[in-house]
Parts: sequence; structure tokens; C-alpha cells
Amino acid sequence: MPSDTKASIIDSIFSAKLPPELFERFAQFIRQRCGIRIDQAKQAMLEGRLRKRMRALGLPTFEAYADYLFNRKNGDTREIIHFLDTVTTNKTDFFREAPHFDYLRRSLLPEFMAQRDRRRVSTFRIWSAGCSTGEEPYSLAMVLNEFAEQNPAFSYAILATDLCVRALATAKAGIYDIDQLDDVSPEYRLKYFTAARTPDRRQLRVVPALREHVVFKRFNFITPVFPIRQPLQAIFCRNVMIYFDRPTREQLISRFIDTLAPGGCLFTGHSESLAGFLTGLTPVAAAVYRKPPH
Ligand SMILES: C[S@@+](CC[C@H](N)C(=O)[O-])C[C@H]1O[C@@H](n2cnc3c(N)ncnc32)[C@H](O)[C@@H]1O
Repeated sequence: MPSDTKASIIDSIFSAKLPPELFERFAQFIRQRCGIRIDQAKQAMLEGRLRKRMRALGLPTFEAYADYLFNRKNGDTREIIHFLDTVTTNKTDFFREAPHFDYLRRSLLPEFMAQRDRRRVSTFRIWSAGCSTGEEPYSLAMVLNEFAEQNPAFSYAILATDLCVRALATAKAGIYDIDQLDDVSPEYRLKYFTAARTPDRRQLRVVPALREHVVFKRFNFITPVFPIRQPLQAIFCRNVMIYFDRPTREQLISRFIDTLAPGGCLFTGHSESLAGFLTGLTPVAAAVYRKPPH
């Protein structure tokens, strides 16, 4: 594309306005496709993120982008994946909400070992549901690996899923800037990270032994069937449900409960209390809910 045409498209994108009816259409589409609520207060955020996408595609107006997204004849159905990537918020950290990892270490894992033979379950299965760029499942992997070293009969499997393809690519690569590891102890840094073979010397990579323990998959919570074959001992679904409306949250919680093994725990974000939801789960620690053992 000639550079003056490109410059004029960029100018149009900057001055483009998102008409209210188109905002509504986008918001409704997002809600249907992934349960995320976008209200008026988030219009500026949506506009900003879509402008980036329009720039990547060379589309000068929101109307042109809507046509590309919705019109199957001109458009590309793969655009829906990019569009949903654009609207997700992927903020996360290693060992975010640290008391959850302490609860796992001190309560859930020792109890699992004590009851393992009686329950005839050999592997501790855990799901990082809404894993974003991988910091949560790798934090879990570090804790579980430490426990496995102290308990040779212990084995574990981690499933990590997210809707966002871009976030999952980062998660799978397991490469992080050194300043993202502030909440990883020096001992764990030394043991579980190695210099990344990237031009940026400030990047570290999760060691293969840990990466191999995490299976990453794209999964949309709106999908009716969960990708789970065996009951889970724990589900971490933290800082995800805040973006959903109440019916979507209720549905999701009830399906999580079906997926948990008796005595298994659901961990939610600390600002996502299940108070007011009829769950049948017992709160056992801050934002930790346990399914009855029988
Ligand atoms: C704020 S991040 C939370 C990451 C991590 N659980 C934590 O607490 O640090 C929320 C994640 O939920 C994902 N998400 C949002 N809607 C989703 C959906 N319908 N299905 C699957 N994942 C979704 C987003 O892509 C995003 O990566």
C-alpha cells in the first residue's frame, strides 16, 4: 500500500467514531460469543482496542470493520477469534492472590495424599480455567512439583485453558521478562527458570520439566461441553467471572461443581465472592469453596 494511502487510513481510524447502534451490536455479539459484559462505561476501552485491530487490517472506519467481522461473504470467520482476543482483559501475575497457593500446599495437597488410596484416585488433577498468559498454571506447577519432590508417590496433571489465542501463545512459550518474576522467590527462579534464547537478555523461560506438566488449550466457557474427562481435585477460575453477567456466572459455577471430585475445591478471585449463589459448596478459606466429600 502506498505510504500516503496508509497515512490517510491511519488518520481516518483516529478520527472514526463508534456510533451507538454499532456499539450495541458489538456489545451484544461479545456477550453472546463469550459472556463478557461490555457496558457504556467500557465504550472508550472497546474503541481503543478495535482501532488497533482496524489499523492492522487497514480498515478506516468502525462500519468497515463491522462489515468485515459480520459479513461472511466479504469477511473471514477467523476474524471472530481476533475480535474476541481484542476484548479480553489478560492481566495476571505469578502467585497472584498468594494465600490460595498456601491453602493448596498446607491443606488440599496433604489431604489428597491422606485420602488418595481410599478414594482410589492416583493423580491430582487441576484446571487453571482462564489461565491468560500462563503465570497462574506455572505458579501451580511450581507448588505441585515441590510437593511431588517431598512425596514421591504423588503425581499431578494441570490443564490450562483460555479464550484468547494471543495470551495462550505467550503461555505456551513460557517466556517472561525478568521484572514479571517479582513475586517468584529467588529459590524458585533459580530452579524453574532458565535464560531464554531470545535477543532480549532480560527474558527468562520456564524450564521444560515444568512446561511439560501443563497442557494448554483454547476453550470458551460458553461452550456447552467442558473438556474434562475425569473429576478434578481443584479448579482455579480467578478474575474471570467478574466480566460475566449473573446468569452466565451461575451456569458456569454449576458446571464447575459437576466437574469437581467430591471434596474438590473451586478457587475464585478474591473480589468474586459466591455469596448469594446457591452452590452447595462450603467456603473454607477466602475465595475457596469446597464440594461436599460425598
Ligand atoms: C484477568 S484474566 C485472569 C487470569 C488469571 N486467572 C488470574 O487470576 O491471574 C481473565 C482471563 O479470562 C479469559 N476469558 C474471558 N472470557 C472467557 C471465556 N468466555 N472463555 C474462556 N476464557 C475467557 C480472558 O481471555 C483472560 O485471559
